[in-house]
Amino acid sequence: CDFYMEPERGITPKRAAEYTAAESSTGTWTDVHTSKPYMRKLSAKVFHVKGTDVKIAYPQELFEPGNMPQILSSIAGNIYGMKAVRNLRLEDIRFTKKLIRSFRGPKYGIKGVRKVLGVKNRPLVGTIVKPKIGLRTSDHARVAYEAWRGGCDIVKDDENLTSQAFNPFEKRVKQTLKMRDRAERETGERKVYMPNVTAETQEMLRRAKFVKKSGGRYVMIDIITCGWSAVQSLRNMDLDVVIHAHRAMHGALTRNKKHGITMLAIAKIARLIGVDQLHIGTAVGKMEGGPREVEEIEHEIEDSFIRGNGIDILTQKWYGKRPVFAVCSGGLQPGHVPRLVKLLGKDIIIQMGGGIHGHPGGTRAGATAARQAVEAVMKGAPAKQYAKTHRELEQALAFWNRK
Ligand code: 3PG
Ligand code: 3PG
Ligand code: MG
Repeated sequence: CDFYMEPERGITPKRAAEYTAAESSTGTWTDVHTSKPYMRKLSAKVFHVKGTDVKIAYPQELFEPGNMPQILSSIAGNIYGMKAVRNLRLEDIRFTKKLIRSFRGPKYGIKGVRKVLGVKNRPLVGTIVKPKIGLRTSDHARVAYEAWRGGCDIVKDDENLTSQAFNPFEKRVKQTLKMRDRAERETGERKVYMPNVTAETQEMLRRAKFVKKSGGRYVMIDIITCGWSAVQSLRNMDLDVVIHAHRAMHGALTRNKKHGITMLAIAKIARLIGVDQLHIGTAVGKMEGGPREVEEIEHEIEDSFIRGNGIDILTQKWYGKRPVFAVCSGGLQPGHVPRLVKLLGKDIIIQMGGGIHGHPGGTRAGATAARQAVEAVMKGAPAKQYAKTHRELEQALAFWNRK
């Protein structure tokens, strides 16, 4: 484990690192009389301390294979509350081969997802039904239909829509999948709906099974609020559905650069357990005020996970674990597409909520604009030029990139 560590005043970095190693393995705040000589080989070892950079190695026998909560209760548990450290951030984890093999990893991964959708190499285009909650079921299904008709491959629920009285889960799944079938018939394209199954674990699993039984191919889960154990349960159930991971609440862990857990570590954990798609941030940021044209600005990549190429962890070779599809979502609109693809490549899912349903021509036109932006990139045409012959894209660029 690689930690960023600031010791409390009066404590040396080395001492604080040793406390951390002890508390996250076999020790506690004082020596105890119950330790046995045979336990010596189980102690964690601090093998690097340089300023705030601390690295600790753990014997793999400390961990139960296939039990992510147990692993995290050790390396990301009590240590955050220790008096000896003022700030502590788990920056990176390197798992042993044995532990990696004890988790399933993605069932579909990038290739499997592309096969489900029949889309070979362009970025996938998705939307989140907006308003995020509050729509009645029939309106929700209608918005989804419009988005698919306009050109979206994917329509998903928002992270806080589950089964509220105004839009109950089962009714929504049935009606929205019906609209999906209609959109597929009318467009000749494959379309997917990602219902949010987030709930108490047993209920979440029941909902996932219901999606499968109803003809769904995907489920979405809020991995942080549901918890890793629940994500494991969903993956280990081995349903034939793609698992889309929303990371709502990750900011509580990732945002403070001195404390918590990095998105890199979270992404590794998610891949190991086996989500197929993971929200990773957007790289290009929100268009606050947006006085200049997106393509013309060298955007500061505001997301340190992406800046540090953390997304490589989703696709690099990892003892046969399939690659995870990176999902860019949050504050995006068609004008962001060229820059996103330039930065992250074509193996991404680009999702726009407001950037589709806020289009001056409505949801269908918004979805068309998003697809056109992707088409332009695939043809190597600058969006502005492509927009001259593609009205919806032209409207989107004029609306969101206005001076
Ligand atoms: C706990 O699980 O609550 C801690 O391990 C407490 O251990 P301590 O009393 O030795 O700090
Ligand atoms: C998401 O859940 O990813 C967000 O709801 C994205 O919505 P936005 O595109 O309107 O920010
Ligand atoms: Mg959302």
